Amino acid sequence: MQRKGTTPTTLDLFADEAPQPPATDRIGPQSFVFRGLALPLIDRLLPALEAVLTRAPFRNMVTPGGYTMSVALSSCGQFGWTTDRNGYQYSTIDPQTGQAWPEMPQVFMELARSAAEAAGFADFVPDACLINRYVPGAKLALHQDKDERGYQWPVVSVSLGIPAMFLFGGHARSDATQKVPLFHGDVVVWGGEDRLRYHGVMPIRQAEHPQLGEQRINFTFRKAR
Ligand code: SIN
Ligand code: FE2
Repeated sequence: MQRKGTTPTTLDLFADEAPQPPATDRIGPQSFVFRGLALPLIDRLLPALEAVLTRAPFRNMVTPGGYTMSVALSSCGQFGWTTDRNGYQYSTIDPQTGQAWPEMPQVFMELARSAAEAAGFADFVPDACLINRYVPGAKLALHQDKDERGYQWPVVSVSLGIPAMFLFGGHARSDATQKVPLFHGDVVVWGGEDRLRYHGVMPIRQAEHPQLGEQRINFTFRKAR
């Protein structure tokens, strides 16, 4: 944009077009937030998501403690994550439909792979993608992602829709947490020495997203087995 009363310089003229390297926030030694990394893929991600949800609709699961989660869940990929009164587990069958989980769409795989690579984890091939839906007021208590068989691969987490305040803690539940605002298109990766850090999501505030409405959708990609 041209500033009033000044002669435009080359920099001013190209300020709007110059390709900006995507912003990255480092939130741990092996943890990163890649701002807007999913945006170039949005037009492929949303229809792929819709197709997955037709076959494996969102549901509010019950925790082993008997509490119904405010976050609604689905999955795609070889393994889906479920919880019920008996515990948490990965399974190849969606207990709600009795069918295999929908295949992981190619565009999901591409995004997970490129985000992991950007964080230093080349050749990530996730076999599970959990899909979380948060409506305003929904939250996710601090927890570790530890139902996977090994921890050598990172977790790749994609945010879509209305914003969230992500909490990124330490290796003990009582450790201090960083508050990390996440917006449509942001991708968080945590792995290596950070793989088992506690994390959660504060209650989602009322908002509306032009494409997704009053909801936040989150994908987390893992190597479960
Ligand atoms: C999760 O920890 O499973 C989801 C995190 C998020 O929704 O950002
Ligand atoms: Fe998690």
